[in-house]
Amino acid sequence: MNTNDFAKLKLFITGPTYLREEVRQAGMLPEFGHRDSENDKRFKPIMGWLRELTDAGDEYTPVLFLGSGSTAMESSIRSLVADGETVLNVSVGAFGDLYHTMAVANGKCAVQLKFDYGQAIDLDVLERTIMEHKPAVVTFTHNETSTGVTSDIQAVCELVRQYDALPLVDGVSIFGGAPIGLKGSGAAMYSTATQKSLGLPAGFGIGFIHADAEEKAARVSDKGHGTDILKQLGRARKFQTLSTPNTTLANQMFVQLKYIFEEEGVENRFARHAAMRAMVADWVAGLPGFELFAQEGHRSPTLTTVLVPEGVSVKQLKAAKESMRAKGYLYDPGYGKLNTLLEEAGRRPVFRVGHMGDITPAMLEEYLADLGQVLQNL
Ligand SMILES: Cc1ncc(COP(=O)(O)O)c(C=O)c1O
Repeated sequence: MNTNDFAKLKLFITGPTYLREEVRQAGMLPEFGHRDSENDKRFKPIMGWLRELTDAGDEYTPVLFLGSGSTAMESSIRSLVADGETVLNVSVGAFGDLYHTMAVANGKCAVQLKFDYGQAIDLDVLERTIMEHKPAVVTFTHNETSTGVTSDIQAVCELVRQYDALPLVDGVSIFGGAPIGLKGSGAAMYSTATQKSLGLPAGFGIGFIHADAEEKAARVSDKGHGTDILKQLGRARKFQTLSTPNTTLANQMFVQLKYIFEEEGVENRFARHAAMRAMVADWVAGLPGFELFAQEGHRSPTLTTVLVPEGVSVKQLKAAKESMRAKGYLYDPGYGKLNTLLEEAGRRPVFRVGHMGDITPAMLEEYLADLGQVLQNL
């Protein structure tokens, strides 16, 4: 194995994802001092673009956590769930479960509401669960990467707010690929990351923090250090990070956000993602025995989950992964734990197609043609 083989890799997994050449080149730019005026030249515009990309207005302050999406999510739990309070973790898949794991690991009193895989949040069931458990905080996933299901963030947050609870949203795999509409949504904190639909390497967790989350955090004890959103906000307001950031990633982020706003255009970017979702749906419709997995009306614009025909096993999907690798692709044979559970329950497994970030319809077309051939020979 040599690095020439690495260099040719074409990623269609669900993050990390393909990087544009300009972003890779930006990785060659010199480092800079994060308490120097050089810092502002990168991070001031970055923070402004992040705000615009979520339509956060002045209601939210963006914060860059060193780490990944999980770091921002864990910070939301540590900073916003007080002793004696209950947090309700709503899950439509593996990443909804992750929020629950974090709450439990941090000693919070946590209850979980789980929906069947492939299904979206049922608001009536959620309302009954809120009435029963009276949570102070409710977490949910905007775009569940294991099942390809999206949630209606406005509707869920509105319901949670009706019961005076704070909604915490995991938007890791959708941010940068679809409108978020944060302003007026009611989300107390929206957590995301760089390595998915933003088309960058991993390295920052991104949190959008509402003023009322800041108010609440002042009343929560034992927030840790890096997971304390108040400490983070103090630095973020100076366009800084709490400790030394990956300045290579900061340079790449500057270049990528400038490209999104000044060259591609945000609306075009979102439209491209929606068009790719439709392309994959058409492709699936033409494959006998294959079906879309996610509930209609809740299908992700950044990844698609596909149910395989009766009799096709997880083992065969893993073999398809090797065949695709031989063609230079990174193919996703489905979220491991989810497929194990589906198979154990006698249900058909699913595979995933990542179409996020800077993947173009032309790249996707070529990939789907090659994947279609491999799947025919399973
Ligand atoms: C929906 C979702 N939430 C959370 C995470 C965890 O994010 P990270 O790996 O950036 O910590 C992921 C990662 O795939 C994800 O897809």
